[in-house]
Amino acid sequence: MPIFDSHAHYLDTAFDSDREVLLTSLFENGVCGIIEAATSANSASLAVALAHRFPHLFAAVGIHPEDAGNAIDSDLQVLSRLAADEKVVAIGEIGLDYHYDDACPRDIQQQWFCRQLELAHALDLPVVVHDREAHEDTLCLLQKYRPRGVVHCFSGSTEMAREIVNLGMYIGIGGVVTFKNARKLTEVAAVIPPERLLLETDAPYLAPEPYRGKRCDSSKIFYTAAAIAALRGVSTETVLQWGEQNACELYNIPRC
Ligand code: NI
Repeated sequence: MPIFDSHAHYLDTAFDSDREVLLTSLFENGVCGIIEAATSANSASLAVALAHRFPHLFAAVGIHPEDAGNAIDSDLQVLSRLAADEKVVAIGEIGLDYHYDDACPRDIQQQWFCRQLELAHALDLPVVVHDREAHEDTLCLLQKYRPRGVVHCFSGSTEMAREIVNLGMYIGIGGVVTFKNARKLTEVAAVIPPERLLLETDAPYLAPEPYRGKRCDSSKIFYTAAAIAALRGVSTETVLQWGEQNACELYNIPRC
């Protein structure tokens, strides 16, 4: 069964002890594609370097809203230069995060989100959008810029999911869909059109049940796909195939 992880962070320190060994073993055991999502200009360079070590690993380059406070103007040129690399398939992850009170000020987050939406448009690349407790502002800016791309680790309502789908964008669903208290997300996972679904881990975070709280890796997508399959009355293999096909289509990657 083809496992395509459309969003992971293997540069996280959680993988410092076994990064190369783990990735090698994942690709030998059914994982056919991984998108490494950068969070800053510096991590974007590292993501591109990592992508060059594994044929089926690709990079998204961008400045995460939590890092927007540290970003400097010239980072935009760095991203632009990196985006020309053949292993870069998207601008991301970018977006808005209103969860923490002491986070980067919202106007700075919005400024960097807009600048990177414009960059993606100029480079004709899709975007990987992070939206945490910022649904209204995120949707408003997506409706303004109308990018191609995905709202990753989707946490909005079914109404918002419908708006995202109407924009032609994808909905990224990860391990949270297997959690007991994930009623809103299970509703979304049950009704979105199959051709708009992306599977993801956000590894090392958000491992699905029965691994909740443990370090996550791309192989765990199986449990996420199984949960979505149960909600929709289809086989796990079918859901994995949707995830793989949609990711290859969005990111313009040859099928596994
Ligand atoms: Ni992420």
